[in-house]
Amino acid sequence: MNTPFKTIIEPFRIKSVEPIRMTTREEREQLIRDAWHNLFTLHSDDVLVDLLTDSGTASMSARQWGAIMEGDESYAGSPSFYRFKSAVERLMPFKYLIPTHQGRAAESILFTVVAKPHHVIPNNTHFDTTRANVESQGATAVDLVIQEGRDPTSEHPFKGNMDIAKLERFIDEHGVDNIPLCMLTVTNNSGGGQPVSMENIRATREVCDRHGIPLFIDACRFAENAWFIKQREEGYAETPVIDIIREMFSHADGCTMSAKKDGLTNIGGWLAMNIEDWAVDCRNRLILTEGFSTYGGLSGRDLEAIAVGLEEVVEEDYLRYRIASTEYVARHIEAVGVPIMKPAGGHAVYIDARRFLPHIPPLQYPGQSLAVELYKAGGIRGCEIGTAMFGLHPDGSEQPAHMDLVRLAIPRRMYTQAHMDYVVEVVAHVFENREKLRGMKFVRQPRALRHFTGRFDYV
Ligand code: F0G
Repeated sequence: MNTPFKTIIEPFRIKSVEPIRMTTREEREQLIRDAWHNLFTLHSDDVLVDLLTDSGTASMSARQWGAIMEGDESYAGSPSFYRFKSAVERLMPFKYLIPTHQGRAAESILFTVVAKPHHVIPNNTHFDTTRANVESQGATAVDLVIQEGRDPTSEHPFKGNMDIAKLERFIDEHGVDNIPLCMLTVTNNSGGGQPVSMENIRATREVCDRHGIPLFIDACRFAENAWFIKQREEGYAETPVIDIIREMFSHADGCTMSAKKDGLTNIGGWLAMNIEDWAVDCRNRLILTEGFSTYGGLSGRDLEAIAVGLEEVVEEDYLRYRIASTEYVARHIEAVGVPIMKPAGGHAVYIDARRFLPHIPPLQYPGQSLAVELYKAGGIRGCEIGTAMFGLHPDGSEQPAHMDLVRLAIPRRMYTQAHMDYVVEVVAHVFENREKLRGMKFVRQPRALRHFTGRFDYV
């Protein structure tokens, strides 16, 4: 893209629109009270700008909708599966490919097959479903991200990196026999959407190799990670994104993937690997829980949409716009003094709720309080990623999470710059009135994944 202009326009036109129903602050105050102050409980048509997640919310392209018409719904051996397979293998050339209905299904199958109760599984940071799938086997999930990754103010270019020295010590301490695999999440969602460098992927691989431990990548946002490598890592500025992606996966023995992120689709995922024994068991598990091995819980048309999505997500004009739009929101809310996780993540801006609301202690969920207020003030739905999400441990004890963040996740190709300008204005308004926000408590909570269904009220 050669242009003398600095404005990065959305590299698409809109063919089909969905109306947004406008609401007033008074209406939203009632709606969120009725939803027990849990944003997951709201009806989405009561939301103006929905930044709850970038997962499954992408707008599909005309080409994807066209491909959907070609979906072949044969139970076994559908040509749609083979188109999906070649699209995946072009980027991630693993020997065995197992389609699943979404990322957590891939995680569930993988950990059901490989994890045992005495196992410990290291990751830069486990996403909540990954952690829950590890723990549901009785195994322990451990996060070994670099120290800078836990410091919202650090400008480290690859804050998702694994702490290699910690990983070495971890392996010495627990012993190879207790570590069935090591994971790397790209980008590191729970740590702020921060990328992992190629150098760090290579270094993690080296440690794993030395101990004979397989390395799996949680690949959800692989294209965004590759774009960051191209922008920030020495030696990659001229490398085509697709080659960066191939190199990332060449260092791994397998991956789990949610096509709802960088697959640019509304559903789908896969598990891929080079380890034959595991693949055979995983495939059997797939047939038991998801479906036959050439559709895995998806329809042929979903597989077609993913195949096209995987071509579109690696287009450099798309990635340039994508990362620039996230950075745009981050830069503008930071300019009015809002504390954010720095630098901006790939798919989301993370507001540092602990610094935004220093008068609310972590065990009164400042992130939840802020997320609720953003909804009341402007109909924006974000997501608490902090003590409400991570503070409760399997033994029933509760501790503050490492950080209290509110994630504003930006759906792919869905909102325009005007929506983002509105978001900036609402966040700035809430920031000006931050002293009025109060802490929250759970009035009802399940034992696991409490942030999804728990009920909150003000303390
Ligand atoms: N791994 C990561 C890093 C994720 O961000 C997610 C989902 C998953 C695995 C699970 O994939 O949803 O297809 O089952 N993250 C979504 C989010 C839900 O909002 O960040 P899934």
